[in-house]
Amino acid sequence: MIDQRFMREYETERLFLRVLDERYASDVLEFLNEGAETFDEYESEKSAEYYTTSFQQRVLKMEYNMAMQKVAVRFYVFKKEDPYKIIGTVSFSFVRQSPFFSCMLGYKLLPGEWHKGYASEAIKAAMDIAAPILNVGRIEAFVLPENRSSQTLLSRLGFSLEGTANKIIEVKGIRRDHLQYSYLYKNESLY
Ligand SMILES: CC(C)(COP(=O)(O)OP(=O)(O)OC[C@H]1O[C@@H](n2cnc3c(N)ncnc32)[C@H](O)[C@@H]1OP(=O)(O)O)[C@@H](O)C(=O)NCCC(=O)NCCS
Repeated sequence: MIDQRFMREYETERLFLRVLDERYASDVLEFLNEGAETFDEYESEKSAEYYTTSFQQRVLKMEYNMAMQKVAVRFYVFKKEDPYKIIGTVSFSFVRQSPFFSCMLGYKLLPGEWHKGYASEAIKAAMDIAAPILNVGRIEAFVLPENRSSQTLLSRLGFSLEGTANKIIEVKGIRRDHLQYSYLYKNESLY
């Protein structure tokens, strides 16, 4: 079912959260290029065309349609003081309905914006927006053992460490063990 709620702009104390469509491909590309060296440490290998406008246009079109259909959503994060520059993303993917009612959280912030509490502020707001719309009561996150700042972030947000998920995600071409976290979101319409 088409859902328009993701299409509006959301705001927190210091940030805007927006779902973007393909018109913003060059802004997204600028963000990805700026953070590339850092993001590559925690993500799967990219194809040669990943850093092209046409590829990002296709991704954004797909993301927009997925958000409208409530099967995944990625929020782009902007500072109110600089409202046209993307500084990060928060995403909810692999949405599963009955009997799981769960999804996977992902996030990243440009290194120049770390240590200011922006990631926590964006993720907290994004969970409150997305969990009811996606109809999920369990939000999962997977973190590399060496990614201490991400572990601290999740603990501060109230996520629980459940254990190690063996070889669960490919990072830089190698399947890696990840720490598995979950947050049980109180969703009145679910069990
Ligand atoms: C993971 C990541 C998003 C964490 O970013 P972060 O800025 O450390 O996270 P937070 O928003 O929680 O910020 C917390 C820091 O801001 C500080 N802070 C300053 N003002 C603050 C405020 N108003 N509110 C909260 N914290 C504030 C805190 O004291 C803390 O400082 P510290 O890092 O020196 O302890 C970032 O490191 C990142 O993008 N990494 C690369 C991608 C990645 O790892 N993604 C996750 C894969 S699982």
